[in-house]
Amino acid sequence: MPRITYVNGQYLPHREAAVHVEDRGYQFADGVYEVIAVRGGGLVDEDHHLDRLDRSLGELRLAAPVSGQPLKFIMREIIRRNRVRDGKVYLQITRGVAPRDHPFPAGAESSLVVYALPVRQPDPETGLKGISVVTVPDIRWRRCDIKSISLLPNVLAKQSALDSGAGDAWLVDDDGVITEGSAANAWIVTKDGDLITRHLDNFILGGITRIAVIELAEKAGVRLVERAFSVEEAKQAKEAFLTSSTSYVKPVVAIDDTVIGNGEAGEVTRGLYHAYEAHMDAQGANGAAD
Ligand code: PDD
Repeated sequence: MPRITYVNGQYLPHREAAVHVEDRGYQFADGVYEVIAVRGGGLVDEDHHLDRLDRSLGELRLAAPVSGQPLKFIMREIIRRNRVRDGKVYLQITRGVAPRDHPFPAGAESSLVVYALPVRQPDPETGLKGISVVTVPDIRWRRCDIKSISLLPNVLAKQSALDSGAGDAWLVDDDGVITEGSAANAWIVTKDGDLITRHLDNFILGGITRIAVIELAEKAGVRLVERAFSVEEAKQAKEAFLTSSTSYVKPVVAIDDTVIGNGEAGEVTRGLYHAYEAHMDAQGANGAAD
């Protein structure tokens, strides 16, 4: 079955799906994106993702070529045509094609690309197998709250983590405070059992998984504090994990050379892992039937 990708109004064989060399996403990273998990054919927390997309577009004064119900339709159509049950949808909007010049082009139409990929879902044993992270300086701009396609510092951070044998990088600001992961939000559980994740500001992306995990933690009676935490505090934590639409809830069992807890996923992390799996499974029904 050929892969089908949506590009500006057309459903194309993936190998023919392309944008112009003067697309501003290609030349200036002038665009935004979303990655949405697909579980049982349904989009996980779709409305939160679309709200964040609207916000990112607004912050960059970028007009959506398609939004609301028509955009939901395209995502469902892409899931259906590619027969994705479990996986992810990638969606990108850029300021469109125009002769290369820094100011916003007059009259350019923004570009929309949507595709879907199947992803093998981890069994609990694999999913709960922790990763180690390394800390690296956070060299990004001051609007990390916008889900911009400009990801070079994130790419460099992830690559340096892989080069040193770790699974991810956690980014650290000039004060020794962890902001977030290269493509995920960062969490710790203190020795007192408090669940800590950074408060929302311009220095992190407001993760959609983060929203769900906060709700699930509250339901489970876990004490949650949204505040910054340092590398030192993280290394002394009882548990650590990260969250994203592609990693879900992923245990972190070492930070740099420091083992966290007993080197395995802790109790709070395990509880949230299972709760988030159930949260995703429960959304399997909102797929093509809508
Ligand atoms: N990344 N922080 C950053 C820098 C991210 O890139 C992401 C997601 C998150 C978590 O957001 P969410 O829970 O909404 O997925 C936090 C996606 C998955 C990516 O770039 O592939």
